[in-house]
Amino acid sequence: MRKPFIAGNWKMFLTRSTGIELAKAIAHGLGDAGDRDVLVCPSFALLGDVADAVKGSNVLIGAQNMHFENEGAFTGEVSADMLLSVSCSYVILGHSERRHVFHEKDPTINKKILFALKKNLKPILCVGELLEEREAGSTETVVKDQVTSGLREVGKDSMGSVTIAYEPVWAIGTGKTATPEDADGVHSFIRSIISELYGREISEKTRILYGGSVKPGNVDELMAKGNIDGALVGGASLEADSFLRVIKFES
Ligand code: PGA
Repeated sequence: MRKPFIAGNWKMFLTRSTGIELAKAIAHGLGDAGDRDVLVCPSFALLGDVADAVKGSNVLIGAQNMHFENEGAFTGEVSADMLLSVSCSYVILGHSERRHVFHEKDPTINKKILFALKKNLKPILCVGELLEEREAGSTETVVKDQVTSGLREVGKDSMGSVTIAYEPVWAIGTGKTATPEDADGVHSFIRSIISELYGREISEKTRILYGGSVKPGNVDELMAKGNIDGALVGGASLEADSFLRVIKFES
């Protein structure tokens, strides 16, 4: 079935030395956990060093964002080729902090998804509702819009490279987690959207991660749910013991 996938989003934390130290501790503690995919997403400045630090291990490397053009005069931006050149295989796109702090909109996110796929970088498309949207009962409308817009013009053949992450914005960095039942319900809804767009077979193969205050204390019950295929972990990925415990969830 779907291989579990645990991704750490380091956001704008750590430095070269602390990032290398953490990456080595994760690679060392992981051993040959070949039954699950493990990804770390350091900031751009640390990518090359972290990639070197985990070389030969099962830890995959991803970025937290990228630009949708091949290259050019885009001060402060990073291209897909640059990410590929430092061993990235994944890129997080449309994270709620990109959407709500940096005002990235669905059409831009869609361009990034399409360009990542063209370059053979695997996108993790993040979607999720704000607290006021949840309270207004519009979670499904918001999530459907974000999934549909994010995947616009993505062909069936590319879907094997796409991961979706459902991250309710009110649960990110707040200590509040959606209940496993609530999260599983939204994941099942997302799977139904993928099924409408691409058919049942592809929807059954697409991995949908949950993100928002995932930690050692709640990962087991989240991962026990049928539609939760992994986790996108922020805070708890910044410390080797807690991230390793999340990776080694039991369900
Ligand atoms: P958190 O972040 O685990 O600290 O809530 C998750 C994310 O933003 O990807």
